[in-house]
Amino acid sequence: MRKLLLETLTGNPGERVPFWFMRQAGRYLPEYREVRASTKSFMEFCYSPEKAAEVTLQPIRRYDMDGAILFADILVVPDGLGQDVWFEAGVGPKLTPVRDNATFSKLGMAGFHDKVAPVYETVARLKKALPEDKTLLGFAGAPWTVLTYMIEGSGSKDHGAARQLGYGNPELFSRMLELLVEATAEYLCRQIEAGADAVQIFDSWAAAIPEPMFDAWIIEPTREIVSRVRARHPDTPIIGFPRLAGAQYERFVAKTGVNAVSLDTGVPLDWAADKLQPSVCVQGNIDPHLVVAGGKPMVEEANRILETLKSGPHIFNLGHGFVPETPPENVKLLSETVQAFRR
Ligand code: CP3
Repeated sequence: MRKLLLETLTGNPGERVPFWFMRQAGRYLPEYREVRASTKSFMEFCYSPEKAAEVTLQPIRRYDMDGAILFADILVVPDGLGQDVWFEAGVGPKLTPVRDNATFSKLGMAGFHDKVAPVYETVARLKKALPEDKTLLGFAGAPWTVLTYMIEGSGSKDHGAARQLGYGNPELFSRMLELLVEATAEYLCRQIEAGADAVQIFDSWAAAIPEPMFDAWIIEPTREIVSRVRARHPDTPIIGFPRLAGAQYERFVAKTGVNAVSLDTGVPLDWAADKLQPSVCVQGNIDPHLVVAGGKPMVEEANRILETLKSGPHIFNLGHGFVPETPPENVKLLSETVQAFRR
Protein backbone atom coordinates (compact mmCIF):
# COMPACT_ATOMS: atom_id res chain seq x y z
CA MET A 1 0.00 0.00 0.00
CA ARG A 2 1.16 3.57 -0.72
CA LYS A 3 2.63 5.61 2.07
CA LEU A 4 1.75 9.10 0.84
CA LEU A 5 3.92 10.91 3.38
CA LEU A 6 6.99 8.79 2.63
CA GLU A 7 6.55 9.23 -1.11
CA THR A 8 6.15 12.98 -0.73
CA LEU A 9 9.37 13.07 1.29
CA THR A 10 11.23 11.45 -1.55
CA GLY A 11 9.98 14.06 -4.01
CA ASN A 12 6.93 12.23 -5.44
CA PRO A 13 3.92 14.20 -4.21
CA GLY A 14 0.40 12.95 -4.86
CA GLU A 15 -2.88 14.77 -5.30
CA ARG A 16 -3.50 15.11 -1.57
CA VAL A 17 -1.04 16.83 0.80
CA PRO A 18 -0.01 14.47 3.65
CA PHE A 19 0.14 15.83 7.21
CA TRP A 20 1.32 15.24 10.74
CA PHE A 21 1.86 17.67 13.61
CA MET A 22 4.81 18.27 15.91
CA ARG A 23 3.80 17.29 19.46
CA GLN A 24 0.72 15.58 18.07
CA ALA A 25 1.02 13.27 21.07
CA GLY A 26 0.88 15.48 24.12
CA ARG A 27 -0.90 17.25 26.90
CA TYR A 28 -3.68 18.78 24.76
CA LEU A 29 -5.19 15.26 24.52
CA PRO A 30 -7.07 13.95 27.59
CA GLU A 31 -6.17 10.35 26.69
CA TYR A 32 -2.46 11.35 26.72
CA ARG A 33 -2.81 12.98 30.16
CA GLU A 34 -4.42 9.80 31.44
CA VAL A 35 -1.56 7.53 30.35
CA ARG A 36 1.03 10.14 31.42
CA ALA A 37 -0.49 10.24 34.93
CA SER A 38 0.26 6.52 35.36
CA THR A 39 4.04 7.19 35.36
CA LYS A 40 5.67 9.64 37.74
CA SER A 41 8.85 10.38 35.87
CA PHE A 42 8.77 11.66 32.28
CA MET A 43 11.99 9.82 31.36
CA GLU A 44 10.54 6.57 32.71
CA PHE A 45 7.49 7.24 30.53
CA CYS A 46 9.78 7.62 27.48
CA TYR A 47 11.35 4.25 28.40
CA SER A 48 8.00 2.42 28.70
CA PRO A 49 7.45 0.90 25.24
CA GLU A 50 3.84 -0.07 25.82
CA LYS A 51 2.80 3.38 27.04
CA ALA A 52 4.99 5.26 24.57
CA ALA A 53 3.53 3.26 21.66
CA GLU A 54 0.00 3.84 22.96
CA VAL A 55 0.36 7.65 23.12
CA THR A 56 2.00 7.67 19.68
CA LEU A 57 -1.11 6.02 18.25
CA GLN A 58 -3.69 8.17 20.07
CA PRO A 59 -3.64 11.15 17.66
CA ILE A 60 -3.73 8.81 14.62
CA ARG A 61 -6.94 7.24 15.91
CA ARG A 62 -8.55 10.63 16.42
CA TYR A 63 -7.37 12.49 13.33
CA ASP A 64 -5.98 9.93 10.86
CA MET A 65 -2.69 11.74 10.23
CA ASP A 66 -0.43 10.30 7.52
CA GLY A 67 2.51 10.11 9.90
CA ALA A 68 3.04 8.89 13.45
CA ILE A 69 6.03 10.29 15.33
CA LEU A 70 7.68 8.04 17.86
CA PHE A 71 6.94 9.20 21.40
CA ALA A 72 10.23 9.91 23.20
CA ASP A 73 12.28 13.04 23.86
CA ILE A 74 15.45 14.62 22.49
CA LEU A 75 17.00 14.37 25.98
CA VAL A 76 17.08 10.56 25.77
CA VAL A 77 20.47 10.97 24.04
CA PRO A 78 22.32 12.78 26.87
CA ASP A 79 20.65 10.35 29.30
CA GLY A 80 22.02 7.43 27.27
CA LEU A 81 25.47 9.03 27.31
CA GLY A 82 25.44 8.99 31.10
CA GLN A 83 24.31 12.50 32.02
CA ASP A 84 21.60 12.82 34.70
CA VAL A 85 18.36 14.01 33.06
CA TRP A 86 15.03 14.55 34.80
CA PHE A 87 11.89 16.63 34.32
CA GLU A 88 10.44 18.83 37.04
CA ALA A 89 6.72 19.50 36.93
CA GLY A 90 6.05 23.11 35.98
CA VAL A 91 9.77 23.74 35.33
CA GLY A 92 10.80 21.44 32.47
CA PRO A 93 13.99 19.51 31.77
CA LYS A 94 16.88 19.47 34.25
CA LEU A 95 20.38 18.03 33.74
CA THR A 96 23.63 18.11 35.72
CA PRO A 97 25.49 20.68 33.58
CA VAL A 98 28.59 19.66 31.61
CA ARG A 99 31.02 22.57 31.22
CA ASP A 100 34.51 21.13 31.82
CA ASN A 101 36.71 18.21 30.83
CA ALA A 102 36.20 16.39 34.11
CA THR A 103 32.38 16.17 33.82
CA PHE A 104 32.57 15.55 30.07
CA SER A 105 34.99 12.64 30.52
CA LYS A 106 32.27 10.75 32.43
CA LEU A 107 30.06 10.64 29.33
CA GLY A 108 30.42 8.17 26.49
CA MET A 109 28.93 5.55 24.19
CA ALA A 110 29.55 2.61 26.55
CA GLY A 111 26.11 1.47 27.66
CA PHE A 112 24.30 3.91 25.33
CA HIS A 113 22.25 1.38 23.35
CA ASP A 114 21.37 -0.63 26.46
CA LYS A 115 20.05 2.47 28.19
CA VAL A 116 17.94 3.66 25.24
CA ALA A 117 16.89 0.16 24.08
CA PRO A 118 13.26 0.72 25.21
CA VAL A 119 12.97 3.45 22.56
CA TYR A 120 13.95 0.94 19.85
CA GLU A 121 11.39 -1.43 21.33
CA THR A 122 8.72 1.30 21.04
CA VAL A 123 9.58 1.72 17.36
CA ALA A 124 9.35 -2.03 16.77
CA ARG A 125 5.92 -2.16 18.44
CA LEU A 126 4.70 0.78 16.37
CA LYS A 127 5.92 -0.82 13.17
CA LYS A 128 3.59 -3.75 13.89
CA ALA A 129 0.65 -1.72 15.15
CA LEU A 130 0.48 1.05 12.54
CA PRO A 131 -1.76 0.71 9.46
CA GLU A 132 0.31 0.10 6.32
CA ASP A 133 -0.45 3.45 4.72
CA LYS A 134 1.01 5.40 7.67
CA THR A 135 4.60 6.62 7.78
CA LEU A 136 6.49 5.96 11.01
CA LEU A 137 8.79 8.85 11.91
CA GLY A 138 11.76 8.48 14.23
CA PHE A 139 13.62 11.51 15.53
CA ALA A 140 16.50 12.96 17.50
CA GLY A 141 17.58 16.42 18.58
CA ALA A 142 20.35 18.03 16.56
CA PRO A 143 23.72 18.24 18.36
CA TRP A 144 23.56 22.03 18.88
CA THR A 145 20.08 21.97 20.46
CA VAL A 146 20.89 18.97 22.66
CA LEU A 147 24.17 20.62 23.68
CA THR A 148 22.33 23.73 24.88
CA TYR A 149 20.49 21.55 27.43
CA MET A 150 23.64 19.58 28.33
CA ILE A 151 25.66 22.74 28.98
CA GLU A 152 22.95 24.94 30.54
CA GLY A 153 21.52 22.13 32.68
CA SER A 154 17.99 23.24 31.72
CA GLY A 155 16.07 25.15 29.10
CA SER A 156 17.30 28.75 28.80
CA LYS A 157 16.33 31.99 27.11
CA ASP A 158 19.38 32.68 24.96
CA HIS A 159 21.62 29.62 25.56
CA GLY A 160 24.30 31.95 26.88
CA ALA A 161 26.35 29.31 28.70
CA ALA A 162 26.39 27.10 25.59
CA ARG A 163 27.44 29.95 23.29
CA GLN A 164 30.08 31.11 25.76
CA LEU A 165 31.55 27.62 25.97
CA GLY A 166 31.51 27.35 22.16
CA TYR A 167 33.49 30.60 21.85
CA GLY A 168 35.63 30.24 24.97
CA ASN A 169 36.58 26.55 24.93
CA PRO A 170 36.24 25.42 21.31
CA GLU A 171 38.29 22.26 21.95
CA LEU A 172 35.92 20.91 24.60
CA PHE A 173 32.90 22.17 22.67
CA SER A 174 33.91 20.36 19.50
CA ARG A 175 34.61 17.14 21.42
CA MET A 176 31.09 17.39 22.81
CA LEU A 177 29.69 17.97 19.32
CA GLU A 178 31.61 14.98 17.99
CA LEU A 179 30.25 12.69 20.70
CA LEU A 180 26.71 13.87 19.93
CA VAL A 181 27.21 13.33 16.19
CA GLU A 182 28.30 9.76 16.88
CA ALA A 183 25.49 9.03 19.36
CA THR A 184 22.80 10.68 17.23
CA ALA A 185 23.79 8.92 14.02
CA GLU A 186 23.85 5.57 15.85
CA TYR A 187 20.55 6.31 17.58
CA LEU A 188 18.81 7.20 14.30
CA CYS A 189 20.23 4.14 12.50
CA ARG A 190 18.89 1.87 15.26
CA GLN A 191 15.46 3.51 15.01
CA ILE A 192 15.47 2.86 11.26
CA GLU A 193 16.58 -0.74 11.81
CA ALA A 194 13.68 -1.15 14.28
CA GLY A 195 11.18 0.11 11.68
CA ALA A 196 11.22 3.91 11.30
CA ASP A 197 10.40 4.91 7.70
CA ALA A 198 11.93 8.39 7.96
CA VAL A 199 13.60 10.51 10.66
CA GLN A 200 13.52 14.15 11.71
CA ILE A 201 16.42 16.03 13.33
CA PHE A 202 15.09 18.83 15.57
CA ASP A 203 17.35 21.90 15.86
CA SER A 204 14.90 23.96 17.89
CA TRP A 205 17.45 26.55 19.00
CA ALA A 206 19.06 27.41 15.66
CA ALA A 207 17.98 31.09 15.95
CA ALA A 208 20.38 34.01 15.86
CA ILE A 209 23.60 32.05 15.43
CA PRO A 210 26.32 34.02 13.58
CA GLU A 211 27.22 32.68 10.13
CA PRO A 212 30.58 30.97 10.92
CA MET A 213 29.10 29.33 14.03
CA PHE A 214 25.98 28.33 12.13
CA ASP A 215 28.29 26.41 9.80
CA ALA A 216 30.36 24.84 12.59
CA TRP A 217 27.68 24.17 15.21
CA ILE A 218 24.63 23.46 13.08
CA ILE A 219 25.37 22.65 9.44
CA GLU A 220 28.52 20.55 9.86
CA PRO A 221 27.25 18.23 12.64
CA THR A 222 23.95 17.74 10.80
CA ARG A 223 25.74 17.09 7.49
CA GLU A 224 27.90 14.48 9.21
CA ILE A 225 24.86 12.75 10.77
CA VAL A 226 23.06 12.74 7.41
CA SER A 227 26.10 11.24 5.73
CA ARG A 228 26.54 8.50 8.38
CA VAL A 229 22.85 7.55 8.42
CA ARG A 230 22.69 7.58 4.63
CA ALA A 231 25.75 5.32 4.36
CA ARG A 232 23.81 2.63 6.25
CA HIS A 233 20.27 3.47 5.10
CA PRO A 234 20.48 5.18 1.70
CA ASP A 235 16.71 5.09 1.08
CA THR A 236 15.49 6.52 4.38
CA PRO A 237 14.49 10.20 4.08
CA ILE A 238 15.87 12.66 6.62
CA ILE A 239 14.01 15.84 7.60
CA GLY A 240 15.97 18.79 9.04
CA PHE A 241 14.48 21.53 11.22
CA PRO A 242 16.80 24.50 11.79
CA ARG A 243 14.09 26.42 13.61
CA LEU A 244 14.21 30.23 13.27
CA ALA A 245 17.34 30.08 11.09
CA GLY A 246 15.95 32.77 8.75
CA ALA A 247 18.03 33.33 5.62
CA GLN A 248 20.42 30.57 6.74
CA TYR A 249 17.75 27.97 5.87
CA GLU A 250 19.00 28.08 2.28
CA ARG A 251 22.61 27.22 3.17
CA PHE A 252 21.38 24.57 5.60
CA VAL A 253 19.45 22.82 2.84
CA ALA A 254 22.24 23.10 0.26
CA LYS A 255 24.99 21.82 2.56
CA THR A 256 23.47 19.21 4.89
CA GLY A 257 21.95 16.95 2.25
CA VAL A 258 18.58 16.56 4.01
CA ASN A 259 15.64 15.31 1.90
CA ALA A 260 13.16 17.68 3.51
CA VAL A 261 13.13 20.75 5.69
CA SER A 262 10.61 21.79 8.31
CA LEU A 263 9.71 25.50 8.16
CA ASP A 264 9.15 27.51 11.32
CA THR A 265 6.13 29.80 11.51
CA GLY A 266 8.04 32.87 10.33
CA VAL A 267 9.39 31.49 7.04
CA PRO A 268 7.78 33.35 4.08
CA LEU A 269 6.16 30.77 1.82
CA ASP A 270 6.75 32.36 -1.60
CA TRP A 271 10.43 32.47 -0.66
CA ALA A 272 10.35 28.82 0.47
CA ALA A 273 8.58 27.76 -2.76
CA ASP A 274 11.18 29.64 -4.80
CA LYS A 275 14.40 28.84 -2.91
CA LEU A 276 13.87 25.57 -1.05
CA GLN A 277 11.15 23.51 -2.69
CA PRO A 278 13.03 23.00 -6.00
CA SER A 279 15.63 20.92 -4.14
CA VAL A 280 13.79 19.50 -1.09
CA CYS A 281 10.37 18.69 0.25
CA VAL A 282 9.13 21.38 2.65
CA GLN A 283 7.09 20.83 5.78
CA GLY A 284 5.03 23.32 7.76
CA ASN A 285 4.20 25.87 8.91
CA ILE A 286 0.93 26.95 10.55
CA ASP A 287 1.30 28.87 13.82
CA PRO A 288 0.41 26.52 16.73
CA HIS A 289 -1.19 29.48 18.51
CA LEU A 290 -3.56 29.98 15.57
CA VAL A 291 -4.73 26.42 16.19
CA VAL A 292 -5.55 27.46 19.76
CA ALA A 293 -7.73 30.26 18.36
CA GLY A 294 -9.19 28.00 15.64
CA GLY A 295 -12.21 28.85 13.46
CA LYS A 296 -12.25 30.59 10.09
CA PRO A 297 -8.87 32.37 10.42
CA MET A 298 -7.21 28.98 11.01
CA VAL A 299 -8.95 27.37 8.03
CA GLU A 300 -8.05 30.31 5.76
CA GLU A 301 -4.42 30.25 6.82
CA ALA A 302 -4.21 26.47 6.30
CA ASN A 303 -5.57 26.91 2.78
CA ARG A 304 -3.14 29.76 2.06
CA ILE A 305 -0.23 27.51 3.09
CA LEU A 306 -1.56 24.58 1.02
CA GLU A 307 -2.10 26.82 -2.06
CA THR A 308 1.28 28.56 -1.87
CA LEU A 309 3.26 25.33 -1.63
CA LYS A 310 1.16 23.18 -3.96
CA SER A 311 3.49 23.13 -6.96
CA GLY A 312 6.20 21.14 -5.17
CA PRO A 313 6.52 18.47 -2.48
CA HIS A 314 4.86 19.65 0.74
CA ILE A 315 3.90 18.00 4.02
CA PHE A 316 1.44 20.03 6.07
CA ASN A 317 2.59 20.57 9.67
CA LEU A 318 2.92 23.23 12.34
CA GLY A 319 5.73 25.80 12.55
CA HIS A 320 6.47 24.37 16.04
CA GLY A 321 4.74 21.93 18.41
CA PHE A 322 1.18 22.07 19.74
CA VAL A 323 0.82 23.91 23.04
CA PRO A 324 -1.06 22.17 25.89
CA GLU A 325 -4.06 24.56 25.71
CA THR A 326 -4.90 23.54 22.10
CA PRO A 327 -8.58 22.51 21.87
CA PRO A 328 -8.74 18.98 20.38
CA GLU A 329 -11.75 19.97 18.23
CA ASN A 330 -9.61 22.62 16.49
CA VAL A 331 -7.12 19.91 15.55
CA LYS A 332 -10.03 17.99 14.04
CA LEU A 333 -11.12 20.96 11.91
CA LEU A 334 -7.52 21.58 10.82
CA SER A 335 -7.03 17.91 9.89
CA GLU A 336 -10.26 17.89 7.86
CA THR A 337 -9.21 21.08 6.06
CA VAL A 338 -5.90 19.52 4.99
CA GLN A 339 -7.55 16.21 4.03
CA ALA A 340 -10.07 18.01 1.79
CA PHE A 341 -7.46 20.00 -0.16
CA ARG A 342 -6.47 18.83 -3.65
CA ARG A 343 -3.41 20.09 -5.52
O1 CP3 B 1 4.38 14.10 19.38
C1 CP3 B 1 5.59 14.35 19.28
O2 CP3 B 1 6.04 15.40 18.73
C2 CP3 B 1 6.59 13.28 19.71
C3 CP3 B 1 7.23 13.40 20.95
C4 CP3 B 1 8.21 14.52 21.31
C5 CP3 B 1 8.31 15.04 22.62
N1 CP3 B 1 9.37 15.89 22.66
C6 CP3 B 1 7.44 14.67 23.73
C7 CP3 B 1 7.34 15.57 24.91
C8 CP3 B 1 9.19 15.15 20.53
C9 CP3 B 1 9.48 15.02 19.04
C10 CP3 B 1 9.94 16.00 21.41
C11 CP3 B 1 11.10 16.80 20.98
C12 CP3 B 1 11.67 17.80 21.90
N2 CP3 B 1 11.85 17.72 23.26
C13 CP3 B 1 12.25 19.02 21.45
C14 CP3 B 1 12.36 19.46 20.01
C15 CP3 B 1 11.09 19.96 19.46
C16 CP3 B 1 10.66 21.27 20.06
O3 CP3 B 1 9.60 21.24 20.72
O4 CP3 B 1 11.33 22.27 19.85
C17 CP3 B 1 12.71 19.70 22.60
C18 CP3 B 1 13.38 21.06 22.63
C19 CP3 B 1 12.47 18.86 23.74
C20 CP3 B 1 12.86 19.10 25.17
C21 CP3 B 1 11.67 19.15 26.01
N3 CP3 B 1 10.91 18.06 26.33
C22 CP3 B 1 11.05 20.32 26.55
C23 CP3 B 1 11.57 21.73 26.43
C24 CP3 B 1 9.88 19.88 27.18
C25 CP3 B 1 8.84 20.76 27.79
C26 CP3 B 1 8.80 20.79 29.25
C27 CP3 B 1 7.38 21.09 29.68
O5 CP3 B 1 7.02 20.58 30.75
O6 CP3 B 1 6.63 21.75 28.92
C28 CP3 B 1 9.81 18.47 27.06
C29 CP3 B 1 8.78 17.56 27.62
C30 CP3 B 1 7.92 16.85 26.64
N4 CP3 B 1 8.40 16.13 25.60
C31 CP3 B 1 6.50 16.76 26.68
C32 CP3 B 1 6.14 15.95 25.59
C33 CP3 B 1 4.75 15.53 25.19
C34 CP3 B 1 5.59 17.37 27.73
C35 CP3 B 1 5.86 16.88 29.11
C36 CP3 B 1 4.83 15.94 29.76
O7 CP3 B 1 3.95 15.36 29.08
O8 CP3 B 1 4.93 15.75 30.98
